Amino acid sequence: MPMDLLGRGLRDLRISVTDRCNFRCRYCMPVEVFGPGYAFMPREELLTFEEIVGLTRIMVPLGIEKIRLTGGEPLLRRGLEDLVAMLAAVDGVKDIAITTNGVLLAHHAEALALAGLSRVTVSLDALDAGIFSKMNGVGAKVERVLAGISSAQAFGLPVKVNAVIQRGVNEGEILPLARWAKSTGVDLRYIEYMDVGETNGWKLDEVVSGDEILAALAEEFELVPRAAAYRGEVAAHWTHADGPAEVGVIRSVTKPFCRDCQRLRLSADGKIFTCLFAAEGHDLRGILRSGANPEILTEVVRSIWTVRTDRYSEERGQVDRPRAEMSYLGG
Ligand code: GTP
Ligand code: 5AD
Ligand code: SF4
Ligand code: SF4
Repeated sequence: MPMDLLGRGLRDLRISVTDRCNFRCRYCMPVEVFGPGYAFMPREELLTFEEIVGLTRIMVPLGIEKIRLTGGEPLLRRGLEDLVAMLAAVDGVKDIAITTNGVLLAHHAEALALAGLSRVTVSLDALDAGIFSKMNGVGAKVERVLAGISSAQAFGLPVKVNAVIQRGVNEGEILPLARWAKSTGVDLRYIEYMDVGETNGWKLDEVVSGDEILAALAEEFELVPRAAAYRGEVAAHWTHADGPAEVGVIRSVTKPFCRDCQRLRLSADGKIFTCLFAAEGHDLRGILRSGANPEILTEVVRSIWTVRTDRYSEERGQVDRPRAEMSYLGG
């Protein structure tokens, strides 16, 4: 298996299936930038499902065993269930997850489960109707997301919830979210607001640190730390002393986890990015469409991975580079 220059193997492939989203969360796709005139990827630029599966196949021999489908909003990609079924049939793929805003999940949960999806991660930053509606930028209703979560659970899909906490916006939702998650049995992870992309106007003082979040939780809950489930797990986790539910914090800003980063990102137009904060990807679609055989593609990815030195979150504040948008390269 290839190792990069910092001794990190390749294990997770995060596949963005569209750069479009039906939300306009300010920290990701502010409406002033991603407005009606914004030029999203034209259809012919998108990898087809066959191409996505072909690229996944060529990466399995390099160590990939976990797939995450992201976007934008992946459920906007028509027929996503078919892609899940195709990926589930690839030898060596052990886990297929999806990261979704949950609004369309109730319609798709059954088909996704039947297609072989392993689990679902839903982004949910607030339970309060007003705060949720404002944060998603389009006035979407929190009930629809909650219905999506229930539906996924009803069809046997384990659910994790991600909540980005931003000072002055939703830190008052930390405890309500924890109470709700504990009673619902979802694994809740709080995410520190990140400086990803170049459009969200990130400021360090808007970051609520993982330690602040844990201190708020400690006022109400008794939490017991649990060890990482696998090398490179991005969230640090705690279990409730009086029940099975878990809470975690993803401290990309205050406690970066680059040293164990085993993730590769594939954009919807077929570029691979070796870091969430990279400016440029490497175009695999061009090589694939030129008729290159799978062995050549495997070697191309190997040669990109083995010279990788990315550790942006550890270097934050010391380097200033251009950064691609998260909605484009996948969260
Ligand atoms: P599982 O543990 O397999 O469920 O997935 P995960 O921990 O990778 O979680 P998920 O994909 O839901 O990622 C949660 C959030 O963590 C993302 O939305 C990002 O905000 C952040 N994140 C994930 N991967 C990275 C990464 O490589 N670098 C940084 N800086 N942040 C990341
Ligand atoms: N900081 C932290 N997390 C972010 N996400 C999107 N933008 C940011 C940001 N600036 C998260 C979303 C979702 C996933 C797709 O990425 O909350 O869980
Ligand atoms: Fe869409 Fe997710 Fe970005 Fe919000 S965070 S705008 S739901 S892709
Ligand atoms: Fe990996 Fe880059 Fe995130 Fe560090 S900042 S964990 S190298 S994706």
